[in-house]
Amino acid sequence: MEFSELIRARYSVRAYKPDPVEEEKLHQVLEAAQLAPTAANRQPFQLIVIHTAGAEADLRRIYARPWLTQAPLIVCICSVPAQGWVRVDGKNYADVDVAIAMDHLVLAATNLGLGTCWIAAFDPASARQVLGLPDGVEPIAFTPLGYAVGQPGPKQRKELDELVRYERW
Ligand SMILES: Cc1cc2nc3c(=O)[nH]c(=O)nc-3n(C[C@H](O)[C@H](O)[C@H](O)COP(=O)(O)O)c2cc1C
Repeated sequence: MEFSELIRARYSVRAYKPDPVEEEKLHQVLEAAQLAPTAANRQPFQLIVIHTAGAEADLRRIYARPWLTQAPLIVCICSVPAQGWVRVDGKNYADVDVAIAMDHLVLAATNLGLGTCWIAAFDPASARQVLGLPDGVEPIAFTPLGYAVGQPGPKQRKELDELVRYERW
């Protein structure tokens, strides 16, 4: 897909077909995350690929929307702050790196005809427990990965002049 078409085609998919995701497509979306830029090239993230089948009850504890488990796969991206680049004033950029990697994954998925939806409103304690996350590994976002049912609605966005300033605040 041409880039401007791709960023318009991506939307938050909240209904999925049960059709499996091809191994090659999964590999390509994971590789897109791997290729993301990260501060000082620290790559302070881990991706966890979860097969939905058989794990539905655990997954619903993490995020209780029925559409979550419609998709055959779910990806969780975690940050590892101890591996992140830290600015001179102490700001750790690991979560920024995670967001860029996740966006690469999401856009690559769109390009391959797959649906995704960023999920941040999950229960972190359940996520930690179900995924067996060790201390120092923080779950940041989930997305289902699968084929969408339906079509995107119109995009609702602020006007550009509400979002952009020139030269200074
Ligand atoms: C960081 C982040 C967290 C989000 N968390 C959720 C979520 O927990 N549940 C959900 O249904 N959508 C979630 N979304 C999706 C947004 O609601 C959605 O991106 C926004 O409304 C714009 O719609 P669009 O993605 O279809 O263009 C999240 C998006 C982002 C970027």
